[in-house]
Amino acid sequence: MVALQTVLQSNANIARLPSGLVALFIGATSSGIGESTLQHLAQHAPAPRIYSVARPQSVAAHETLLASLRKSNPTATITLITADISLVSEIDKIVAAVTQKETKLHIFVTAGGRMAFEGREDTREGLEPSMSTRYYSPLRAVQQLLPLLNAAPSPRVLAVLAGGREAQMNEADLDLRDPANWSYWNAAVHAATMCTLALERLARGNPRLSVVHWDPGPVATPGLAKWDKYGLTPPNQRSQDEGGTRGVFLATNDRYAVQGHGGLVPVPEGLGGVNKSGGGIFLVDADGESTDNEGVLAGFRERGVDEMVWSHTEKVWAECAARARSPKDEL
Ligand SMILES: NC(=O)c1ccc[n+]([C@@H]2O[C@H](COP(=O)([O-])OP(=O)(O)OC[C@H]3O[C@@H](n4cnc5c(N)ncnc54)[C@H](OP(=O)(O)O)[C@@H]3O)[C@@H](O)[C@H]2O)c1
Repeated sequence: MVALQTVLQSNANIARLPSGLVALFIGATSSGIGESTLQHLAQHAPAPRIYSVARPQSVAAHETLLASLRKSNPTATITLITADISLVSEIDKIVAAVTQKETKLHIFVTAGGRMAFEGREDTREGLEPSMSTRYYSPLRAVQQLLPLLNAAPSPRVLAVLAGGREAQMNEADLDLRDPANWSYWNAAVHAATMCTLALERLARGNPRLSVVHWDPGPVATPGLAKWDKYGLTPPNQRSQDEGGTRGVFLATNDRYAVQGHGGLVPVPEGLGGVNKSGGGIFLVDADGESTDNEGVLAGFRERGVDEMVWSHTEKVWAECAARARSPKDEL
């Protein structure tokens, strides 16, 4: 386990990074692990240029948060991008906003999403939002941002979801379109498992890119508070602040860089290395250590399920793009 004290010491060294770190956050608005990660990065980094995505109904609250971050770090340039990531087609707006202003992206943190306890209500793209916010949209963003990420010396993607908790899926219905196959739990398993397989595929094609798929464990966020209502309150919850403190460590420490491509915050003395998954990404547990889920993942790779997930994902993205071009087809 990486001690919180070690994490705090590392995070203090973010102040020594060169100015001008560029970071993008999705799922960092009025609540959650992403918001706390954003706060800690904005507080420590010298003259960072940070982009943060908020859906329309959260823009006002997020502007208030960003105003306070600008006050606490006057060297920071923080830009709000309005987009609803339950729609894959909205990712284009995010990518365009960052690409217009930046030539590189050092860090991309994706922490949006929710458990769909309330049941299923599809978006106008025909996707179930707990899956689009946690898988189809963030992965689309990573894929589209690769040119900017690859232009950075030590690029990193931090996906806050459920790394190491991949499990068997209904391979005949990956997006769970058939209501008989859908449940909030199946949606969570499919999103997390497809996320790892697709991120591994992207990491293999982009060898300098560090990809961290993190399972933060129980963190006392408004998202987790909703679990109470369903009698699912997990024990030993960490505070949201610790969640964000650990999140920024994973996003900035060279312990999670691709070997030979460090360049962010040096690895704390005495801390051993972390292993990558067989597919080449860091699957990291709540304590910052690598987890091993090869018992599940190796079988997927052997059977080509990773390629099947990728083809399925590209097909879904193409369908969403086609729908966005023909608004008459909207539901
Ligand atoms: N907390 C935990 O214990 C825990 C444990 C394991 C895994 N996770 C996973 O970690 C991720 C973050 O969890 P959390 O507890 O921090 O969640 P949270 O408190 O519910 O925060 C989720 C964030 O996603 C944003 N978001 C949701 N739907 C969106 C949309 N359509 N468009 C744009 N932004 C949207 C929310 O913005 P708004 O302000 O607009 O709602 C918020 O900023 C989730 O994927 C969760 O499943 C959490």
